[in-house]
Amino acid sequence: MVGLIDSSEWSNLRPILAEWDQKFFPFPWRESHWNSLVYDYHALIAAYDQDKLCGFSLFNTSQGVESYHLLKIYVVQDSRKKGLASDMIKYSIKKFELKQIYLEVAVNNIAAIALYESLGFEKLLKKDSFYSDGSDAFAMLLKCD
Ligand SMILES: CC(C)(COP(=O)(O)OP(=O)(O)OC[C@H]1O[C@@H](n2cnc3c(N)ncnc32)[C@H](O)[C@@H]1OP(=O)(O)O)[C@@H](O)C(=O)NCCC(=O)NCCS
Repeated sequence: MVGLIDSSEWSNLRPILAEWDQKFFPFPWRESHWNSLVYDYHALIAAYDQDKLCGFSLFNTSQGVESYHLLKIYVVQDSRKKGLASDMIKYSIKKFELKQIYLEVAVNNIAAIALYESLGFEKLLKKDSFYSDGSDAFAMLLKCD
């Protein structure tokens, strides 16, 4: 099951999401970055497995529905390959009536690239040295209509 996290739940969940980010993302944000996120310019979607929070996706919405920027998407190990990441993205498209979604993904993140391509994202270009360790990213775009 997936659903939108509203502003009242945002502050309770933020420490959990920041902890997952810290533990499981190769290039996590600083705590101050998480704390400075402005709800107005972001959308947070949660995924639940048997009513337990098991993943999230975070979008920057400042460009409006013309183009949301997918900043992070994560599903805990035990809940992967059940369609939850896919459901979060599909839910966002429907909920916000998005025209397109843009993202960057590490070139060696096979699972994430497979997820995005399964949804119809296309590679736009390779961004050399995009990450702080000098590794490269693909910029990808999904046209939703
Ligand atoms: C990438 C990630 C979010 C995918 O989450 P998920 O809930 O397991 O993905 P889904 O079950 O919705 O997968 C949908 C499709 O994506 C592809 N896919 C997902 N994981 C895959 C894997 N490990 N290997 C190959 N293809 C994969 C498949 O096509 C899959 O469809 P299928 O199950 O019918 O074959 C998850 O692996 C994760 O949290 N990884 C760590 C964080 C991360 O890398 N985030 C992306 C940063 S840009």
